Amino acid sequence: TNYFKNNIFWQKYLVTRIKREKKYGHKSIVIWFTGLSGSGKSSIANYLEKILFENDIHTCLLDGDNIRSGLCSDLSFQKLDREENIRRIGEVSKIMLEAGMIILVSVISPYRYQRNMISNILGKKNFLEIFVNTPIDICKDRDPKKLYAKAHAGVISDFTGINDVYEIPERPNLLLDGTDSLKKNSKKLIKILYDNNIIS
Ligand code: PPS
Repeated sequence: TNYFKNNIFWQKYLVTRIKREKKYGHKSIVIWFTGLSGSGKSSIANYLEKILFENDIHTCLLDGDNIRSGLCSDLSFQKLDREENIRRIGEVSKIMLEAGMIILVSVISPYRYQRNMISNILGKKNFLEIFVNTPIDICKDRDPKKLYAKAHAGVISDFTGINDVYEIPERPNLLLDGTDSLKKNSKKLIKILYDNNIIS
């Protein structure tokens, strides 16, 4: 493979994911929230993380807006840059998996092939795709950052749902109604973690 061509050799770690999982008392996994801007991804991820944290679970939250202010500050919202944004977040998540954490990712990730790419990078069993399904009219009404208004005014181009695509997940691991309460949605998420033996 490329590793050898580039004189790069994979180093084994003494502290493994399995050792960490045993010590922490839970498995690691990536919970990937996808949905429109304003659908509620970040609120749900935050609410869930707080519950997990309060139950001594090792978590990490990667939120699109925040990642784009640092790690991905060089990227636009065009298709290939969204792909690179998602790829980097996927690779960071992969490192965090080895650190034994439950990683919550909140990014629009509008393209199906890009989400499939992440599932392949991480391995299917490490990836839960959660579709936060909120009608676009409700997202527009909420418009917490006034971005829909800007997109309509033509100030922002490539805005997801207005002048750029959002491809609905065909078979998400879980579909959440983004208009339901945070409590109701987090219960569904905790159940799916139990059902997948991530927590016990
Ligand atoms: S993506 O598609 O996964 O790469 O997007 P993501 O990294 O999640 O970033 C989405 C947040 O960036 C703001 N924003 C935009 N979103 C969509 N389209 C365009 N053109 C755009 N410009 C800025 C917006 O605040 C998104 O945050 P959320 O939390 O989804 O509302």
